Amino acid sequence: MYKCFGDDLASGRLDVEPFKFTHNLVDHPALSMKSLARSLPELPPHCIRYSKALSDLGISFDRAHIDHRNGMSLEETVETIRTSNSYITVADPHEHPAFRDLYHDLSADVGQMIRRSGKGSNVREPRMWMFIASPNAQTPFHFDRYSNFLMQISGSKEVAVFPNFDQKIISAADCESYMDRVEAKPLWKPEFDQYATKFEFAPGEAIHIPYVAGHYVKNGAENVSISLSFFFQTDQTHRWSDAMRFNHRVRRRFVQVGMAPHPVGISPRRDALKAHALPMVTRIGSMLRSARQRFARA
Ligand SMILES: [Fe+2]
Repeated sequence: MYKCFGDDLASGRLDVEPFKFTHNLVDHPALSMKSLARSLPELPPHCIRYSKALSDLGISFDRAHIDHRNGMSLEETVETIRTSNSYITVADPHEHPAFRDLYHDLSADVGQMIRRSGKGSNVREPRMWMFIASPNAQTPFHFDRYSNFLMQISGSKEVAVFPNFDQKIISAADCESYMDRVEAKPLWKPEFDQYATKFEFAPGEAIHIPYVAGHYVKNGAENVSISLSFFFQTDQTHRWSDAMRFNHRVRRRFVQVGMAPHPVGISPRRDALKAHALPMVTRIGSMLRSARQRFARA
């Protein structure tokens, strides 16, 4: 029995495909616009990014707050969100006491769901994010380094989710470099749209966006949208992340001899071996770098 989620949460489909389920956070006192207008300005500045609302799926989502500023203060942006065509992203709102119980309840529910799924013993790297958007705002096409439960609190929107580990959508090399903390590049091509699963998304509903699955969001024309994301890793996604970092670090050497490392997400055994070998590859990489620097100074 979950505290925040309905019993329709299909844990067996975790990170296999996107699916909808229900949540009961619509009336949570910390998530009303009135309460957010009080709590958001009290958060540390590093938790909040805001920009103009975007209308192009090909824009870099990670750079929107730098490349598309709305020219207003946070307080003004929150106050005028219905009309000012803006987009606010809040990372780790649980740094504010108003969100702490919610964060712990969600962590406990997701931990329980992971154990049911058989994909790990507990939740790893749990993070809560919040998205507040003017009518018609779009979240550009991108993928995240986590599994995601996206919960709609207020307003309606369309969410498009693409298959994960599908090189027609995101190449293994692009996926691996982003997982190894290289800045994301814009990846969107309109012809991808035929591969999307599209969900109409309303308050009280949640969508599972599988690990590294591409997605975009189009906000409805009528309402301000408030959504909550709970990002997390399982033991399985943690192995995949380390295996992708391994691939990224060895890919250049493979390319020099006309080969490519096997993509992650196909063979659990191979992925586990790569994840296990990542610290060794990292050590060898830093030894080679310092040898090159010593050689250059000599
Ligand atoms: Fe995302």
